[in-house]
Amino acid sequence: MKFFVDTAEINDIKELAATGLLDGVTTNPSLIAKSGRDFLEVTKEICGIVDGPVSAEVIALDHEGMMREAEILRKIADNVCIKVPLTIDGLKTCKALTGDGTKVNVTLCFSANQALLAAKAGASFISPFIGRHDDNGFDGLELIRDIRLIYDNYNYATEILAASIRHGVHVLECARIGADVMTAPPAVIKGLVKHVLTDKGIEGFMADWAKTGQSL
Ligand code: E4P
Repeated sequence: MKFFVDTAEINDIKELAATGLLDGVTTNPSLIAKSGRDFLEVTKEICGIVDGPVSAEVIALDHEGMMREAEILRKIADNVCIKVPLTIDGLKTCKALTGDGTKVNVTLCFSANQALLAAKAGASFISPFIGRHDDNGFDGLELIRDIRLIYDNYNYATEILAASIRHGVHVLECARIGADVMTAPPAVIKGLVKHVLTDKGIEGFMADWAKTGQSL
């Protein structure tokens, strides 16, 4: 499963990229606002840190506006992936952009039927939002399961990018189901390495090593 980080914070992206575990980055207007940075400037900087796709979301809600903004965004770097909302205008934009080789991430997906439409529009990625779906009394992981089944039924090449991930159980279940990618906040990704028995084991080994009086 590919790991994308869901942030526009440069230091977090650099730290995770240095581990070699990072396959891409996703941003959205809220994350750009949180970073306090200029949209085009911060996106360019992120694209220089990771080789994989960096999702940058259009702001326009109409097809013509989305196409105009996509033109600006895709000039930033070769690894920019245009993010469009799951609306008729978003799907129309997706079809037009992927038709000429641009990567497109269709976002804000909350139903398997929406995911089916995105695949038919040629989306490179579909982003079902697990956490927000859970928050509203639905089963976010069930959504990932349904999309996996449908995409496999028809051999759609669209990658399932599990988004709005809140904790390690979401990551584990997405991997079990076979989501192609997951995007999570830096703290969730860093938290995956933690285990109390790992820490305890290191502590024990260090204490015993000290008793040997040796050094390496
Ligand atoms: C994905 O691309 C979105 O930016 C993100 O996963 C949304 O997550 P949230 O529900 O935690 O805001």
